[in-house]
Amino acid sequence: MPYNIVVIVGSLRKESFSLKIANALASLAPASLKLDVTRLNGISFFNQDLEAAPPADWLAFREKIQKSNGVLFVTPEYNRAIPGVLKNAIDVASRPYGKSSFLGKPIGIISNSPGPLGGVSAAKTLQNILPGISGPILGQPEAYLNAVGDAFDEKGELTKESLKTVLQQYLDAFAAFIEKQHR
Ligand code: FNR
Repeated sequence: MPYNIVVIVGSLRKESFSLKIANALASLAPASLKLDVTRLNGISFFNQDLEAAPPADWLAFREKIQKSNGVLFVTPEYNRAIPGVLKNAIDVASRPYGKSSFLGKPIGIISNSPGPLGGVSAAKTLQNILPGISGPILGQPEAYLNAVGDAFDEKGELTKESLKTVLQQYLDAFAAFIEKQHR
């Protein structure tokens, strides 16, 4: 049975590069991993007032993570941090207090940008946020994907060979990391 990995896409945008990268990862993944590309479009705002009777979308998102064997974040950078929708989803899944759905889950982080810095500050933001509420985070290789703007054709297929190679290398390392955590 392959390990079930929830791939959380940090952008809501239809033509999101992060979404296209997540889809490319799903098609390049080795047989040991099944990647479930997960968008955040339906997740309502976190509000502590709702915690006693959480909305169905919060419960569904939490359950999906709880049932997974690991989580892979693919995110852009907004203003040197992660997009608000991604922080919101993490807040949702981090609750109730002490019962984060990410606890024990091995984590991978891939940031990206059409710009030169590859969204590194978004990846660093996740590295700040997650340790208190998740399992171990894969530290190497780091994946800050720059210049992703010309990496896809009009159908959204990954055409940039250099990026394909980087994604393949990351997936190999992530698969080994997941295997190790479940041994
Ligand atoms: C951006 N963008 C951006 N890029 C970057 O490299 N560093 C940054 O700090 C920011 N900040 C930022 C803020 C806001 C509000 C927007 C809308 C955009 C550009 C961003 O990388 C670009 O729009 C990506 O295409 C967004 O990711 P998706 O939607 O393609 O996955």
